[in-house]
Amino acid sequence: MKFFIDTADLAEIKSLASSGLLDGVTTNPSLIAKSGRDFKEVIKEICSIVPGPVSAEVAGTEYEQIMKEANVLRKIADNVCIKVPLTPDGLRACRHISDDGTMVNVTLCFSAAQALLAAKSNASFISPFVGRVDDIGWDGMQLISDIVEIYQNYSFKTEILVASVRGPNHVIEAAKMGAHVATLPPAVLRALFNHPLTDKGLAQFLKDWQGTGQSIV
Ligand code: G3P
Repeated sequence: MKFFIDTADLAEIKSLASSGLLDGVTTNPSLIAKSGRDFKEVIKEICSIVPGPVSAEVAGTEYEQIMKEANVLRKIADNVCIKVPLTPDGLRACRHISDDGTMVNVTLCFSAAQALLAAKSNASFISPFVGRVDDIGWDGMQLISDIVEIYQNYSFKTEILVASVRGPNHVIEAAKMGAHVATLPPAVLRALFNHPLTDKGLAQFLKDWQGTGQSIV
């Protein structure tokens, strides 16, 4: 499973990139607003830190405007992935941008039917929002399971990018289902390391080691 990081915070991206665990980055207009930085500059900088796909979302909603914005964003770096909304105009643009050789991430997916449309539009990634589905009392992970089954039935190349992830359970459930990618808020990626027995075991090992009076270097 690939790990993308869902943030436009450059300090977080630099710090997590050094872990060697990052395969890409996703941003959205809310995350860009939170960063307080210029959109295109931030994307350029992120692309220079992380070699994998970096999703940059268009702000236009009509086909012509989406294409204009995509043509600007795709020139920022070779690893820019254009993020478009799951609408008829977004999917029409997805088809054209993909056919032109640029990656496309179709965002705001909340149903298996929408995911099927995105795959048929040649999306590189489909982003189902599991947390927001859970928030309205539906089952986000059932959505992932349905999309995995449908994509496998037809050997679609579109990768399932699990988004709106709220905790390690979302990541593990998605990995068990075979989703290709999870995009994680930094806190969730860090939480994956945690286990109380690791902390307890390490404390004991360090105590015992100190008791030996030895040093390795
Ligand atoms: O980037 C899209 C998605 O991950 C947003 O997550 O937490 O705002 O629902 P959230």
